[in-house]
Amino acid sequence: MTPAIRVRGLEKSFGDVHVLRGVDLDVAPGSVFALLGSNGAGKTTTIRILATLVHATAGSASVAGHDVATDPGGVRESISLTGQFAAVDEVLSGRENLVLVARLRHLPRAGRIADDLLERFGLTEAASRRVATYSGGMRRRLDIAMSLVGDPAVVFLDEPTTGLDPEGRLAVWDAVRTLAATGTTVLLTTQYLDEAEHLADRIAILHEGHIIADGTLAELRQLLPPARVEYVEKQPTLEEVFLAVIGHGTPAHEQEVA
Ligand SMILES: Nc1ncnc2c1ncn2[C@@H]1O[C@H](COP(=O)(O)OP(=O)(O)O)[C@@H](O)[C@H]1O
Ligand SMILES: [Mg+2]
Repeated sequence: MTPAIRVRGLEKSFGDVHVLRGVDLDVAPGSVFALLGSNGAGKTTTIRILATLVHATAGSASVAGHDVATDPGGVRESISLTGQFAAVDEVLSGRENLVLVARLRHLPRAGRIADDLLERFGLTEAASRRVATYSGGMRRRLDIAMSLVGDPAVVFLDEPTTGLDPEGRLAVWDAVRTLAATGTTVLLTTQYLDEAEHLADRIAILHEGHIIADGTLAELRQLLPPARVEYVEKQPTLEEVFLAVIGHGTPAHEQEVA
């Protein structure tokens, strides 16, 4: 199967700062791929090269079968990019933002497309409210919904949950799962291990300009010594207490010790 994203020997320097020093990646069509790395590792730089916003210093990359250097137009027609900071218009409502993007893309039935996306991202009730009144999680979901107008084959999400509260993060995770379920290829970057763990089919770790690990979560776990078995005394959770009190579930003292 041809990868949706293929990167070979990618290098990028800014002056004498060598940010990428030979990155290789393959992302399977319809999968969610997480590029994990600390601040300054070069995640955004990688995405910007793949989205044809900056040129690589060396190496090659193709997206949806189009080479980023020789066919940037083909790449742009196949992708969408959601940056680290939500690009929604505060003054407009959620629905108006979506309709605007659909019109800019010259799509017929912009209203229908907007309503469909609002529904998919759980924003129907807030559709006619100004975005200024949205929570961080709602904004980011709207931002992701906007990037889906026109059904791009490949979606880049650059740190989609950075700066969000836990509830907002969960809402964005749901949005990414919604995307994956429709067969869209997703390349997301994150600094959070648990995010990669929850969302990605494959994870690559970018460190000092190289991919130092690349695999499924199970494969990456095998890089570490086997898990130690620890015995801990488990206090009942409030949920368990609640269920026991209302007469459901096993009493806490009969429960398995983790
Ligand atoms: N346009 C630029 N000019 C100079 N240095 C840059 C530029 N863009 C990024 N960098 C540097 O490249 C490194 C990687 O940045 P970035 O790709 O944004 O990392 P990440 O997204 O993983 O946090 C950083 O040291 C950053 O300062
Ligand atoms: Mg970044």
